[in-house]
Amino acid sequence: MRVVVAIDGPAAAGKSTVAKLVAKQLGYTYIDTGAMYRAFTWYCMEKGLDCQNHDECIKLIDEVTIKLKADGTVLCNDIDITRAIREPRVSSNVSYIASYKEIRLFLVDQQRLMAKEGSVIMDGRDIGTYVLPDADVKIFQIASVETRAIRRYDENISKGIPCTLDEIREDVRKRDYIDSHRDFAPLKCAEDAITLDTSDMSIEEVVNAIIDIINKKISEKK
Ligand code: DC
Repeated sequence: MRVVVAIDGPAAAGKSTVAKLVAKQLGYTYIDTGAMYRAFTWYCMEKGLDCQNHDECIKLIDEVTIKLKADGTVLCNDIDITRAIREPRVSSNVSYIASYKEIRLFLVDQQRLMAKEGSVIMDGRDIGTYVLPDADVKIFQIASVETRAIRRYDENISKGIPCTLDEIREDVRKRDYIDSHRDFAPLKCAEDAITLDTSDMSIEEVVNAIIDIINKKISEKK
């Protein structure tokens, strides 16, 4: 049976860490939609554009090709930007790019095509509400601002990406606001999603909880 899992939630809630592990354990394909918005942002910045300039940024749609490889590598026009898209300068601009409807439609088309292949687990902000409204399982993964800021800070430091905790906390707050207040496909919990507050949960506990939810849904459908 083909299974489609949507995981949404605010910035740095640990969605991608958990989704990758669940995908590995269940043999599903993991699709990181945030990486696609980040790749587009990186490209705008490479071209020297101000990411708050909607009209200039959307002109790049025709020249951007984004590929997500199975090993997690992210390519933009065949350049490996896997590490570059995690830099704070990209994180602090990505919410502007993700608020432009034209760019969202361009990337959502690709996300829907990717979701047609086998069982998938896709994470983002609008997967359960807009990209894949018929997903079999919808999870809304949340955590407090402080927990998320510390997690993202630790992750950056372990990857050698320089940052401060204050900078990350501010960025998380700013992105929460922009992502949930944009007009088109904002961050919100789907009516049929299960909310998982991971503030006091370990990664392993979250992975196990999600696998339990998936297995329960599968047995209900049989
Ligand atoms: O999950 P992330 O932090 O890598 O996502 C980067 C940004 O992309 C985030 O601030 C909001 C945006 N995003 C979005 O609007 N819709 C998605 N499906 C995924 C990410």
